[in-house]
Parts: sequence; structure tokens; C-alpha cells
Amino acid sequence: MNRFITFEGVEGSGKSTQIQLLGDYLTGEKIPVVLTQEPSGTPIGRKIGDILFHRGHFAMCPETELLLFLAARAQHVREVVLPALQSGKTVLCDRYSDATFAYQAAGRGLDPAFVAAANDYCAMQVRPSLTLLFDLPVETGLERAGRRDARLTNPAAADRFEREKLDFHNRVRQAYLNLYTAEPERFRLIDASGSVEEIADQVRGQVMDFIHKQR
Ligand SMILES: Nc1ncnc2c1ncn2[C@@H]1O[C@H](COP(=O)(O)OP(=O)(O)OP(=O)(O)O)[C@@H](O)[C@H]1O
Ligand SMILES: [Mg+2]
Repeated sequence: MNRFITFEGVEGSGKSTQIQLLGDYLTGEKIPVVLTQEPSGTPIGRKIGDILFHRGHFAMCPETELLLFLAARAQHVREVVLPALQSGKTVLCDRYSDATFAYQAAGRGLDPAFVAAANDYCAMQVRPSLTLLFDLPVETGLERAGRRDARLTNPAAADRFEREKLDFHNRVRQAYLNLYTAEPERFRLIDASGSVEEIADQVRGQVMDFIHKQR
């Protein structure tokens, strides 16, 4: 039984907030969980993330960006995801392959067939059994992310993704919705425009429904 649950959606849609709340809830239900994230789910991935999100790296070309995310994924799947799944844990992962299709293929315009082949090579065909798609207007997510960044110790600037134009974010949002339409049995759509508690209720409901159907 594979319980690999990924959290996807545009900037500021609440993925990192909700993964923590779901992790606490499942732990309370005595379900062993591993919480992880991409690209920074391993020590090597954290260093790759430093390059990807460095405030000064505005010249990074899309091909470099793609290959760095995939390098982090290759490491993460082998070091964290597969061992945890093999030991029977439920893995909750903040962003995974769908983000690569949404951001680097649809957002940056890279060839989806190449992205798919390279992703399969790096991810060893490890696919999520459930993906929660946090959907909301991109403006709302960017406003939330902007308020969060303003509270950081170095609020100098948003990262390269948050600085992208609305058009980029809308392409990413639409690509996520297309992935959902193409694979409705894997995805659950979460209305991410409400309060933290409202969203947490939806997430718990969808995940417990999935777990009960697996049993
Ligand atoms: N439902 C909500 N309503 C209002 N604010 C929220 C809500 N959920 C999260 N936030 C706040 O919005 C900001 C962004 O949330 P969070 O970091 O969880 O989003 P994210 O999807 O992980 O973003 P990113 O894509 O940048 O990683 C945080 O400051 C968080 O506290
Ligand atoms: Mg986050």
C-alpha cells in the first residue's frame, strides 16, 4: 500500500501551513508520517534550494532551473521518499513532480515531453498516490506570500518565482488544473481561498476518505 501524498498549488496557497496541520492530525490518529518538501528535503537539496531561491540569481535560465529541481528530486526520492514508503510510513511532501510540469513546462515554456522523460529518470517512476491541489486566485496567494516575506528577517525582496508577472502565475495555475482534469482519480481539489481552519477541514476530509478507501 503506497501512501505518498503530495501538496501542490500556486505561491501562497497554504501548502506549507496545511502540511503541518495534517501531519499533527495524522500523528494524533497514530498514523506514522514523514513530512518532507522539495527541493529542500535533504541536506544536498537544501544547498540546491539555496541556489534556486537566491535573491540575486535573476539571470538563471529555465534549463538550469529545471535540472536543479530534478537533481534535488533524484536525491530526495532515493534518500527520503522511497525508504519511508518502504518502511510503511505515510509520506507528506510539499511540492513534487506536478510542480515541475506546472512551473518549468507551462510557466517557463520548456518542452513537456523532455520534462516528463527527465522527471521519470530522476523520480524513478515514484508517483504520488494522492495529490491535494490547493487552488485559489493567484493574486490572493501572492498577497499572502508577500505578507509572509515582509515578516522575514531579510524582507529585501521576494524570490524569483514570487517576482514573476501575474501571467506566469496564471499559466501555472491553469497547468495544475489541467493536470487535475487529466488524472482526476489521483487529485483532490482543495478550495484554498478560505480560512486556515476551513481548508484544514477539507484536507482532513479528503485524506481520511482516501485512507479509508485504501484499507
Ligand atoms: N487560509 C489562509 N488565509 C490567510 N492566510 C493564510 C492562509 N493559509 C496560510 N496563510 C498565510 O499565508 C502565507 C503563505 O502560506 P504558506 O506558506 O502556507 O503557503 P505555501 O503554499 O506554502 O506558499 P509557497 O508556495 O510560497 O511555499 C503564510 O504567511 C501563511 O501563514
Ligand atoms: Mg511553502
